[in-house]
Amino acid sequence: MIYHKLIDKLHKETILSPQEYLLLIKNRDKCSEYLFQNATQVREEIYGNVIYIRGLIEFTNYCKNDCLYCGIRRSNILAERYRLTKEEIVSCAEEGYQLGFRTFVLQGGEDQYYSDGILTDIIRGIKTKYPDCAITLSLGERSFESYLALKNAGADRYLLRHETATKSHYEKLHPKEMNFDNRMQCLENLKKIGYQVGAGFMVGSPYQTEENLADELIFLKKLQPHMVGIGPFVPHKDTPFKDQLPGTVDLTLFMLGLIRLTLPNVLLPATTALGTIDPLGREKGIRAGANVLMPNLSPVTVRKKYMLYDNKICTGDEAAQCIDCLKRRVSTTGCEVITDRGDYKEI
Ligand code: 5AD
Ligand code: FES
Repeated sequence: MIYHKLIDKLHKETILSPQEYLLLIKNRDKCSEYLFQNATQVREEIYGNVIYIRGLIEFTNYCKNDCLYCGIRRSNILAERYRLTKEEIVSCAEEGYQLGFRTFVLQGGEDQYYSDGILTDIIRGIKTKYPDCAITLSLGERSFESYLALKNAGADRYLLRHETATKSHYEKLHPKEMNFDNRMQCLENLKKIGYQVGAGFMVGSPYQTEENLADELIFLKKLQPHMVGIGPFVPHKDTPFKDQLPGTVDLTLFMLGLIRLTLPNVLLPATTALGTIDPLGREKGIRAGANVLMPNLSPVTVRKKYMLYDNKICTGDEAAQCIDCLKRRVSTTGCEVITDRGDYKEI
């Protein structure tokens, strides 16, 4: 079959033309199982049957941005804002360490309260205590100097989803003061400084076309990120996109499979958003080629306040419950959660 042939070609050459990607995306109902087989095979060859876990610490939901899709955008006056102290953040890491986490992801809105001085102090605090752990930052757009200072303090990785590789689409998802070129520049700066870099986008975001999705793969192939975070768009009731349709499970899984074959070594999470639109979404993500899970380590008291989208899962569970639940879920896929930093494998 022509689609299987194209998947064989992608498996072998790790790149297709935009037209070929588009053809597969449009005909995904006819070839998704075959894609997933190929994708899991590639993942197995490089990473084995191992799933890496990252402890997500959502330490502030203040944000100066106003992205139209996001529940913690600054215009959402209904969002109850919070900030965690250094002590609270370190204590989340302590709990995580006991549970077997060796990567901590410090994620927050773009909150100017957290100056370079405050952040470097937090990073050093965690790194001194747990030198065997990796620190990933996910703090949005900052200056080159700031990214450099945070790297020098001990941060290892940085996640900054580009959200869409198409400038005109970016402008439909963001207010005028946000700038596509600046975001791309940030990704370049992060790479230049030597972070392991994560990019990513939402699947099924408003105005996204299948052509846009084909272009995402071309863009990612050029960028060569170490990580790619994708999840379905899920509307949030207090945003301008409240009445827009959510992204679908099948399209998100198909994109995961295509990403695995395009960037064989990439670290690829099955995201919480995917688990939100389908109770078995994360398991299906793993079967489609994902190899990372990012459960929440934030204190349960603030979990419900970090609502980027409606009905987010795991907001009532203690970290320990979450990790047990995840281990059980992962075991149904034939894979296994391990205690490891889970760095990018170069070859
Ligand atoms: N649905 C799905 N993902 C969302 N994000 C923000 N808002 C939503 C939403 N409504 C994603 C963005 C952002 C990441 C932290 O969460 O891609 O980069
Ligand atoms: Fe959090 Fe299941 S993974 S409760």
